[in-house]
Amino acid sequence: MDLWSVRIIVKDKFKELFSEYFENFDGYMSSSLFQDNDLNCKYDIDKPYNLSTNKLGEFHLNKYWILEIILNIKPDKKFIKTKLNFLAKQFKLNEFYVYKKKNNDKNFLNKIYISKIINKDWLKENRSSFPSIIIDNFYIYGSHIKKECSENKIPIKIDASFAFGTGSHETTRSCLNSLTYLSKIYNPKSVLDYGCGTGILGIASKKIFKNNKITFVDIDINALKLTKQNLRLNNIISREILLSKSNTMKNFNKKKYYDLIFANILFGPLTSLAPRLKFISKPNSFIVLSGLLSNQITNIVNRYKMFGFKLKKKIIINGWGTVIMRRQF
Ligand SMILES: C[S@@+](CC[C@H](N)C(=O)[O-])C[C@H]1O[C@@H](n2cnc3c(N)ncnc32)[C@H](O)[C@@H]1O
Repeated sequence: MDLWSVRIIVKDKFKELFSEYFENFDGYMSSSLFQDNDLNCKYDIDKPYNLSTNKLGEFHLNKYWILEIILNIKPDKKFIKTKLNFLAKQFKLNEFYVYKKKNNDKNFLNKIYISKIINKDWLKENRSSFPSIIIDNFYIYGSHIKKECSENKIPIKIDASFAFGTGSHETTRSCLNSLTYLSKIYNPKSVLDYGCGTGILGIASKKIFKNNKITFVDIDINALKLTKQNLRLNNIISREILLSKSNTMKNFNKKKYYDLIFANILFGPLTSLAPRLKFISKPNSFIVLSGLLSNQITNIVNRYKMFGFKLKKKIIINGWGTVIMRRQF
């Protein structure tokens, strides 16, 4: 199937409006919003855009966003332009026009970029671009790799077609480093992999601690499907694979308590989850919080201190931070 991309640049306060507006267009499949550093520097030279988040870890301070709509039919340029300008007029925005290469116009703010997406087997592409990785004692490899690992490594087979967690990202890597560190001083009976993605952290825990119970939670149903698949690939049985619908965890196992919790999600959700994570952790248990930019570590540590956790160790790799904390009471 051929896919088409329509991109425009929108100001922060109009991004949802334009994004929803496109949903009624013929062939609409999805929309995505991207931030672009150069773009924002260009339009706000006095206050250069930076990637730091607000208190909730959101990027709401960005001035401009790239909005990309994917359509599964060839867009009618004239129609798109008319529709967009209808909306632009209502909000007194400058007129949009379809970008043509030969115009060589430097002002890209009012242009509509339309391009065809080259048809590829993205799933296959993603699988084959995932190389095997060694992190501490773990050998992580995709289901497409046939090569056996050496005997002294712990193999983790991961199908990562559409979820996060292959070990290649700094945050996953430092969570695995944390697991290695904890395995030398601690033997948890119950582990929660909160925001499990591919399930890599829970699977690695099961391989190290063998007799413990692992619970996997994610807000993304596709991540949970993939986790199930990866559990099968690694011959692990777990009945606790749960969908959480919000940061408040209201919908999942309120009466379970954990010895070790991994949460590699962003600063915002981690901040709001602090009371819940305290509630479901046992006294003296450990939590590993990741997905943090290094400048967010102090805030998150202070936040979790308020809920009785004490900093045990922090790991920073390429600007990404992970903290290991222990519940004191
Ligand atoms: C960065 S990935 C981490 C995946 C894996 N645990 C790892 O370390 O590689 C974050 C995962 O958390 C999930 N997630 C984000 N916010 C969440 C929330 N509030 N509750 C549950 N899961 C969440 C996302 O869907 C995603 O799969």
